[in-house]
Order: sequence, then structure tokens, then C-alpha cells
Amino acid sequence: MSERSKAERPKFVTPKGRPPARRKPAAPGADLFTGVRPPSGPKTAYYDPGCTQCPRLAEFLTETHHAHPDYFARPVPSFGAAAPKILIVGLAPGMHGANRTGRPFTGDYAGVLLYETLHELGLATASESVSADDGLELRNVRITNAVKCVPPENKPLPDEIRQCNAYLKSELVELKSVRVVFALGRIAHDGVLTAEGLKRSRFAFAHGAEHALDDKRVLVDSYHCSRYNTSTRVLTPEMFKKVMARACEIAGL
Ligand code: URA
Repeated sequence: MSERSKAERPKFVTPKGRPPARRKPAAPGADLFTGVRPPSGPKTAYYDPGCTQCPRLAEFLTETHHAHPDYFARPVPSFGAAAPKILIVGLAPGMHGANRTGRPFTGDYAGVLLYETLHELGLATASESVSADDGLELRNVRITNAVKCVPPENKPLPDEIRQCNAYLKSELVELKSVRVVFALGRIAHDGVLTAEGLKRSRFAFAHGAEHALDDKRVLVDSYHCSRYNTSTRVLTPEMFKKVMARACEIAGL
């Protein structure tokens, strides 16, 4: 994705051509639309569920919330084990998948190969992730996204990726059990390096590449398991299973 200056960026407008309505930001920790704070429980979210730091994304969520009142349409929390050995990092919620269901890679094609592979390797209790309340559990694995909010046309802007990186960073800091960070695609790979304060130029993205992040953690790269990559066979089920199995081996699973 090329870096563009603010002046060059297309102004975000609603499908009807109106600029989107401005919304008062929710208080930190409160829900984006109800303003209600969730009851405190075990800490499993390393982000602000009412975040409106990226104006374009917050506006897009508001529009989505109105267009699809039954959609989750909020920053999507990560999903899986509370003390995982492997942290899988995706790009951003899909419009009719994670953004609809409220669980990463759930409800659209992007999660098909991911959950099938996790199940085959004994890391998921089912081979399909249908909805946030389908009873599926992950073992030793957690899935998060480099960007928590659905971006227009599936493309977060560089500023949005940078802004959301603070959440990825805090998740990486808090999840002390993680031994392997599994990056789905280059944006996730770059996001992990930024969160770890490491120079991108020292760690080239490549499918199957392994990079020591420190003396305890390894970054493992994979092509993103998107519909495009799987249907063009840029990423085959065999390639994906091989690199995920290697991640398990490194993580001692
Ligand atoms: N859905 C997600 O949650 N993340 C992705 O990267 C793609 C689809």
C-alpha cells in the first residue's frame, strides 16, 4: 500500500454522497453506540471497545451500524485462549464477516482455511467459525487483527494502521505466554515489527519466514488466507498447514 499525504487522500463520503454525521466519541472503555461500560471481568481485551481515534473508520462504523443494525459494527475484539502460545495477527475485520459477527475471521470466506487448519492441528474445537456464540473454542491460540475496525474497501490507511498499533503492542506486552506471533500477510508482519520497535528493513516478509523477535519469541510469516489468495492458489491448504504446523513446533505444541 503506498503512503499518501492527507491532502491526496480521497475524502470519505457515504454511499449517498453526503459527508457522514459526526458522532460524540464514547467515554474510554464504553461501548461505541450505547455508551455503556461492559462489566469488569478477566482482562481479555487490550483495546478500547469505544475507540473513535480514526475519524474515517469511526464514521464508517456509524454508517455501517445504520445500514445494518444487526451487525456488530464495532472495533472487533481478539478471540481465543487467554494465555496463548501462538498469537495469530490478521489485517482487519471483513465487512460481512468479523464486522458482522464480532469475531475475527468469522462469518465470511476469509476464515474458512484458517479455522479448518486450526482444527486439523488440534488448536480449535470445530473446523468452522460461524458466529460469536457458536461454542467454538481455541486451544493455545488467539486471533487478533492489526486494525480493529472494518475499513472501507478492506483497505486501512497507513495512519489508521499506525494508530491501531498501540492496541497490538499492548496485547503483545500483556500476553506473556506467547512464543510465536503468526502474521497473516505483510501488513500484519509490519504491524508486529512496529509494535516490537524493530526495523522493518531487517526482517523481510516471506511466506514461511521465521524471525527471532527476542530470545523468547519468533515471528512466523504466512500469506494471508484471503479468498483471493486461496482461490488463485497463491496460498494452498498444504502451504498453510505446513507453516502453521511449524508455528506449533516452535511454540512447543
Ligand atoms: N477478517 C478478519 O478478522 N481479519 C482479516 O484479516 C480478514 C478477515
